[in-house]
Amino acid sequence: MNEKKGTFVVLASGRGSNFQAILDQVNAGNIPASCCALITDNPDAYAIERAGAAGIPVQVVAFRSFPDKGSYESALISAIDLYNPDLVVLAGYMRILGNAIVSRYAGRMINIHPSLLPAFPGLHAQEQAVRYGVKVAGCTVHFVTEDMDAGPVIIQRSVPVFAGDDGALLAERILHEEHIAFPEAIRLFFTGRLYIEGRIVGICDPDATPDLCGRHNGEELR
Ligand code: GRF
Repeated sequence: MNEKKGTFVVLASGRGSNFQAILDQVNAGNIPASCCALITDNPDAYAIERAGAAGIPVQVVAFRSFPDKGSYESALISAIDLYNPDLVVLAGYMRILGNAIVSRYAGRMINIHPSLLPAFPGLHAQEQAVRYGVKVAGCTVHFVTEDMDAGPVIIQRSVPVFAGDDGALLAERILHEEHIAFPEAIRLFFTGRLYIEGRIVGICDPDATPDLCGRHNGEELR
């Protein structure tokens, strides 16, 4: 099994609680990888303070400093490639990425979404769930593909939805599960336990199915 220590960058736009949960698991020795940078599109993101406290370099690539989406994304690619990471982690990164960037990191870019996809993609997923009246909600960690919130699913965790919930209450309940699911998905990635076949993500057993471990449609995942 491939247990070499890897590297990842985190892209976050806001408070960065998922970023923090990931760092905590890295620091606890549960993820055999290190975070080489936080990249944000928001100069006021609280995630920047968290990176500072953890001694992690920050790059601000602010959308409004660029004339169009194309030049913004080129700058974003340069910012990521500077660190040559094994994995790109979107942890509350609030911009939809174009195909150039998504295809560049195919099979090594993951995102967390606060719903049980394919239900409730897009913004305000928790509020969408409450309004729809579902009784179970949750979060999804998935590989990023060109279609928003539609890539191969790595992990999902569910929570109940109670009568009287509003979007904020449900978001808090889901967030607790996000903080478990996201570090776990990253741990599986870096311990070579994931494989992708089409849109199915499997978790391999290094003893029973070693040939599958760390493969992306037959090729090495990282
Ligand atoms: C999370 O709910 C995540 O699922 C969504 O954005 C939120 C980010 O929260 N994509 P945080 O910045 O990690 O606290």
